[in-house]
Amino acid sequence: MTLPLSALSISSILQRITEGNADGEWLMHMDCRDLPYVVEPMQLADVPTVASIERDVFPMPWAASAFAYEVQANPHSYYLVARYRQLSAAPSFQGKLTSALHRLAGRRRNTEILGYAGFWLMASQAHISTLAVTPRHLHRGIGELLLVGLIDWACEVRATTITLEVRTSNLVAQSLYRKYGFETTDVRKGYYSDNGEDALVMNTKTITSASFQSNFQHLRDELRTRLRSSRSARVGSWND
Ligand SMILES: CC(C)(COP(=O)(O)OP(=O)(O)OC[C@H]1O[C@@H](n2cnc3c(N)ncnc32)[C@H](O)[C@@H]1OP(=O)(O)O)[C@@H](O)C(=O)NCCC(=O)NCCS
Repeated sequence: MTLPLSALSISSILQRITEGNADGEWLMHMDCRDLPYVVEPMQLADVPTVASIERDVFPMPWAASAFAYEVQANPHSYYLVARYRQLSAAPSFQGKLTSALHRLAGRRRNTEILGYAGFWLMASQAHISTLAVTPRHLHRGIGELLLVGLIDWACEVRATTITLEVRTSNLVAQSLYRKYGFETTDVRKGYYSDNGEDALVMNTKTITSASFQSNFQHLRDELRTRLRSSRSARVGSWND
């Protein structure tokens, strides 16, 4: 059914476009409008910065060309970036319109990338391939926000479970994954070729189940509260 244009609020259309929900399947279920960060699909223009963070963070970094392939060519890839939200205290209609037009033209407001994450969808399983936050922005909830974005997106594209590998020594990442219901189901011996370290295989239960969704909703609400309070503390400084 086609709605008459008058039935649609122009302001809500602009909001959807500027909030990053205009990219087909991508829809973050957490309301991020009053948070200091925004999570959006990675674009080709983001790749050089992402590759540079990757080199800072991982001992066996992916090349920029690998990220470019994921973003441009791999039909099974879903990649996100987190940035500071760029908003004035009371965005004008003109500001929203400019922002929306930039987005439609495929251009991004140039705010710093704080982290990124991605998964591959294989049959009905989402396989998290990467998740990283820049060293300068750790411990602010950005890693968790990216994981929430991945889980939301995995639900959106009808994945039923999520899996990943993590170094046995990476207790920080394991703690984050456990918080979101991942459990260790296997060990891959000598998985990492740089030092021969083992990988833990971690899996979720069925992400569409009522118990997973109810816990996920609770964690999402807690994260939102945490990020909102960090916004109040930092309002002005992230408003660049
Ligand atoms: C793992 C990583 C993404 C976490 O990002 P972050 O933004 O610092 O984490 P958050 O502030 O969102 O914290 C979320 C959760 O992570 C875990 N965590 C974060 N820092 C931790 C620390 N220093 N010690 C233990 N757990 C920690 C906790 O479970 C935390 O939840 P809590 O605040 O309720 O305790 C980040 O440390 C990182 O980029 N590491 C390097 C790359 C990497 O190892 N990626 C994972 C590959 S599998």
